[in-house]
Amino acid sequence: MTQDQLKQAVAQAALDHILPQLSAKSVVGVGTGSTANFFIDLLARHRMEFDGVVASSEATAERLKGHGIPVYDLNNVVELEFYVDGADECNKYLELIKGGGAALTREKIVAAVAETFICIADESKRVDFLGNFPLPVEVIPMARSHVARQLVRLGGDPVYREGVTTDNGNVILDVYNLQIVNPRQLEADINNIVGVVTNGLFAARPADLLLLGTRNGVERIK
Ligand code: 5RP
Repeated sequence: MTQDQLKQAVAQAALDHILPQLSAKSVVGVGTGSTANFFIDLLARHRMEFDGVVASSEATAERLKGHGIPVYDLNNVVELEFYVDGADECNKYLELIKGGGAALTREKIVAAVAETFICIADESKRVDFLGNFPLPVEVIPMARSHVARQLVRLGGDPVYREGVTTDNGNVILDVYNLQIVNPRQLEADINNIVGVVTNGLFAARPADLLLLGTRNGVERIK
């Protein structure tokens, strides 16, 4: 199976998981990236079985609107049963690194609101220890150099992601070579640096269900 076929399989598995639980009033949280895009295209076929969605990025909102799906402002949504999104890395505790697509802050906000966060990923994303993928950190532009110096003190090698502005008008530092022994602690430590909006560690709020696409089928990890 190709990587895209694995992504398609986990997107279908997520849809199969949530569909029986959706009602005409349901609003679904939808993530960002190529795996999430497979989910969006499948979800669109069931347009009449839920009310609408909340999107974790402008790109995702555009794709959803292109399918004729109503996209709501999160502030106007009281209940979000499910959030479905991909990841750049995942471990067996369902802790993640996200933000390869620069949407980490909105993704973390939607994940915080959702009752159930379903992560969909192909097996290339599974790791024993998080941190081989450079950790994205969203930063207020004027704080970029200050934050970079603090990240060096934490043992990382931050690299400015040139030419990228997030949906929130900020910049991204990708941090290489971090030894992530305690993801929850590091997530908090980086978020405590003045000028950081958030970082791509999803450990304080990990996924609730990981659907991992493997050559032997979709693994369900809880
Ligand atoms: C975007 C993300 C994505 O979920 C992550 O980058 C995975 O993307 P893909 O499904 O294309 O591999 O966090 O900010």
